[in-house]
Amino acid sequence: MTPFRVLGIETSCDESAAAVVENGDTILSNVIASQAEIHARWGGVIPEVASRKHVENLLPVIHSAFERSGLNWVDIDGIAVTNRPGLVGALLVGVSAAKALAYVHGKPLVGVHHLVGHLYANFLAKNPPLFPFLSLIVSGGHTELLLMRDDNTRERLGHTLDDAAGECFDKCARLMGLPYPGGPNVDRLAMEGDPLAVAFPRAWLGGSYDFSFSGIKTAVARFLKNDGGKTPLPDVAASFQEAVVETLVRKTIKAAKETGMRTVAVGGGVAANRRLAASMRRECEENGLRLVIPPPVLCTDNAAMIAAAGYPRLLKGESDPLSLDTFAVESL
Ligand code: KG4
Ligand code: ZN
Repeated sequence: MTPFRVLGIETSCDESAAAVVENGDTILSNVIASQAEIHARWGGVIPEVASRKHVENLLPVIHSAFERSGLNWVDIDGIAVTNRPGLVGALLVGVSAAKALAYVHGKPLVGVHHLVGHLYANFLAKNPPLFPFLSLIVSGGHTELLLMRDDNTRERLGHTLDDAAGECFDKCARLMGLPYPGGPNVDRLAMEGDPLAVAFPRAWLGGSYDFSFSGIKTAVARFLKNDGGKTPLPDVAASFQEAVVETLVRKTIKAAKETGMRTVAVGGGVAANRRLAASMRRECEENGLRLVIPPPVLCTDNAAMIAAAGYPRLLKGESDPLSLDTFAVESL
């Protein structure tokens, strides 16, 4: 097979990232400059700061992606860039750079939906899924349960009606006084806590595959206020995390059984959560399902997943015009 190599570029939030991926499944380089430390000062991402940092970081990150892959522009067959959804100022930095590079080096360019990127991170895992499969995408902005029939056919079974799973982690972390980014800090603290210490509510929403996480946020706020610090924080973190994880796992397993899917693929930043991975693994094993979860570095934002998601279109000879636009919001 002739190698087909895609340069991926990702700047939708607070990671400036570039990667080179061969044939949609082999990572030759994957470089990420995180701004998390900078935004931690404000307890969340400041959009204008993010854009300015992307301007500073992106070209060095692309340079480094080339250096680590050992390749040059002549070896690249196309460019894939995240153009939706995300912080528009941040997206514009990546998209403008991608357009300029595509024009100068005469390479085809495709815009990639960030969530499709998270989905394609599964194809970079050691045991990639085969179509059809069930996909759970859990990130800072989305919670989606999808039935993936093939590259172009996806059916949405459920999504969040309010907060995304990652947003819930971040907001509850803040209530617990944990620094940004909240999710990984809850994950760490929960390792030392008892998940059964506090009975936080689970929103089952009848038999629906939809999710709702705003109730648990209110419950955590109320609990912390009434408890006055008596319950050890690791117990609160572990119990909160358990409520989110149990909801995600139960609904996913139910959907897999009811749709007859044999493979479950999980992606997005929250898929880096150790309790979610362990619980999903146990339940999949018990139900005879195959589980795919990419390594944590491919769950959180990266450009390898964007290159992998752009690969099928680029391989077919498709491309987007240099007038490619950016969009703050776009559902799958
Ligand atoms: O996919 P991602 O990197 O960016 C978005 O597309 O939003 O996801 C970021 C989200 C944040 O809410 C972050 O707190 C959460 O993923 N996250 C985690 C963990 N690592 C990242 N949540 C729980 N446990 C983790 N280990
Ligand atoms: Zn993301």
